[in-house]
Amino acid sequence: MHRLFIYSLFICSSLAFQFPFSIPLFKSKDTAHTEQPQVSPRIAIIGAGAGGTSAAFWISKAKEKFGIDVEIDVYERSDYIGGRSTVVYPYNDTTFAPLELGASIFVDANKNLMRASKEFNLTLTAFEDDDSNTGIWDGQNFVLVIESGSYLKSWWATLKVLWRYGYTAPSRTKAIVQSMIDRFLSLYTPESPRWDDISVFSERFQWVSMTNQTASVFLESNGVAPLFARELVEAATRVNYGQNVDKIHALGGAISMAASGASGVAAGNFLIFERLLENSTAKVFLNTNVKEIKRKSGSSLWTVYTSAGSQTYQAVILAAPFHQTNIILPSDLAELIPPQPYVDLHVTLLTTRSDHPRPEYFGLAPNAQVPATILSTYEGARAGGVEPEFNSISYHGKVRKLDGAAGDAVTDPESTVKIFSEERITDEWLETVFGSVSWVYRKLWQAYPVLLPTSEFPPVKLDQGFYYVNAFEPFISTMETETIASRNVVDLLLHEEFGTGICGALLSGTENATQTATPADFVLGWDC
Ligand SMILES: Cc1cc2nc3c(=O)[nH]c(=O)nc-3n(C[C@H](O)[C@H](O)[C@H](O)COP(=O)(O)OP(=O)(O)OC[C@H]3O[C@@H](n4cnc5c(N)ncnc54)[C@H](O)[C@@H]3O)c2cc1C
Ligand SMILES: *[C@@H]1O[C@H](CO)[C@@H](O)[C@H](O)[C@H]1NC(C)=O
Ligand SMILES: *[C@@H]1O[C@H](CO)[C@@H](O)[C@H](O)[C@H]1NC(C)=O
Ligand SMILES: *[C@@H]1O[C@H](CO)[C@@H](O)[C@H](O)[C@H]1NC(C)=O
Ligand SMILES: *[C@@H]1O[C@H](CO)[C@@H](O)[C@H](O)[C@H]1NC(C)=O
Ligand SMILES: *[C@@H]1O[C@H](CO)[C@@H](O)[C@H](O)[C@H]1NC(C)=O
Repeated sequence: MHRLFIYSLFICSSLAFQFPFSIPLFKSKDTAHTEQPQVSPRIAIIGAGAGGTSAAFWISKAKEKFGIDVEIDVYERSDYIGGRSTVVYPYNDTTFAPLELGASIFVDANKNLMRASKEFNLTLTAFEDDDSNTGIWDGQNFVLVIESGSYLKSWWATLKVLWRYGYTAPSRTKAIVQSMIDRFLSLYTPESPRWDDISVFSERFQWVSMTNQTASVFLESNGVAPLFARELVEAATRVNYGQNVDKIHALGGAISMAASGASGVAAGNFLIFERLLENSTAKVFLNTNVKEIKRKSGSSLWTVYTSAGSQTYQAVILAAPFHQTNIILPSDLAELIPPQPYVDLHVTLLTTRSDHPRPEYFGLAPNAQVPATILSTYEGARAGGVEPEFNSISYHGKVRKLDGAAGDAVTDPESTVKIFSEERITDEWLETVFGSVSWVYRKLWQAYPVLLPTSEFPPVKLDQGFYYVNAFEPFISTMETETIASRNVVDLLLHEEFGTGICGALLSGTENATQTATPADFVLGWDC
């Protein structure tokens, strides 16, 4: 199914090249006087990750509702849809259940992803660390080990946690996280603001004090015990964003703690983005690198130069981190986007017969039980100790056949393991920690922005008809928020260029919108 779809997109795109690109339409003298057919205005989207695919989807919603006459082209330099949301298969065998190589979970509060999964009939699996223990490793010792039950659900309120950190730290942190989620949910209501300036948006949500301070300073100033922040919250910020609590901004910290009800699409989260794109009926150009974008002289149009030719557009949506695209922009536009470092994250996936990491590596007795989910804290290193050699190690169940795949169930299956680390994990290291491993897959991602405290963000609108979805990433970087950032961008763009938004000409947040009572399951953009 997945392969077929990619294939058909590919066919579609190679045919599509012939129209907008290389082949001149009217060559012969017979047609020299023929009037050019009235062509629809076009919008270019660069990037087919969460941001770009959802942008195409939002535009198609407006087309469907208001008959806006516009064609959409999506350019993607890689050979797949999903960007940082993609899977690999153990042994590269597609009859096995896939493993997420990038973004793996989303939560109940992520209404766009939840709604898309439902509309496109994608099966979700809850993210559980089924009955395995979770430990927090500081490089030399486990500072905390919680027996079974899901870390992501509520172990931060278990007895052991209360014993170590006191009662107020978990409850205060929980209140901070809950208030953040409550505000976040207003983004799905008809009253949701639109924003071309993320700083103004952040002020309106009263999140400035969360982005302009580190998580540790913010939590401490809200009465959370320092050790709780530096061990437990840090375990979450390190596994979610590869960053420590005394570096990451507090909004990033709160997002890291907001993992209750976490799940993922069983066959791969990228399927959401494939379906959004398929549903949009946009033209998709895979393996097509965008090289340069220029103003078309004497007009307000944009010319997009790609590895396959060039095309003129009424509007352009950039849905990739600009500094990683290598796209040449007019210098006045490029200057608007401040340099943005990303976290280099090594993801190592493997299969092994070892049911848990070896106790010896952790300085434990050979018969000691080692947690199957190991998070980490930098607190040991801050106190002059040794830095953990990884951010997280997690067992993800056994190698198994994909539901519906032909062939017998796997007999005597191996375990699958995922490791996040700042440095490349060597074969020797794997041997030390797991004894033997069978299949190993390594990927170095520029995973997420370095979320340093700030109150300034890149512009959402770079120029008339030119928008930047990933301006949102240094604020919050998740799959869901990229679909929200793209909704905002599409709404602004459509109002500017076509006089109506995704939900009609009404500006979000105007009086009329608030007058109608909205049902609890209302999702802005889907239901308006
Ligand atoms: C290991 C890892 C774990 C993560 N875990 C989670 C998680 O559990 N939950 C969560 O919500 N988020 C998670 N994230 C973050 C999440 O993946 C991102 O926030 C989100 O996927 C970004 O989507 P995007 O569309 O903005 O960017 P991307 O997915 O990066 O898409 C941009 C696309 O643009 C393409 N492109 C770039 N330059 C060009 C060009 N010049 N021409 C054409 N195409 C171009 C790229 O090939 C890419 O496909 C994780 C990320 C990583 C790496
Ligand atoms: C995985 O399999 C596909 C399809 O057979 C092949 O094209 C690809 O090169 C393989 N990848 C690796 C890393 O072996
Ligand atoms: C949804 O998926 C289930 C199982 O994956 C299938 O039985 C059902 O027919 C599907 N429904 C639709 C409407 O496609
Ligand atoms: C952070 O923002 C808050 C709220 O706007 C403000 O009171 C505070 O001074 C800012 N702190 C820093 C370090 O900029
Ligand atoms: C898009 O999805 C909706 C269901 O959410 C479906 O009714 C519609 O037919 C789909 N359109 C296309 C073009 O796939
Ligand atoms: C707002 O509501 C009023 C009264 O219901 C109506 O007359 C008016 O046309 C509405 N305005 C818009 C912009 O829809």
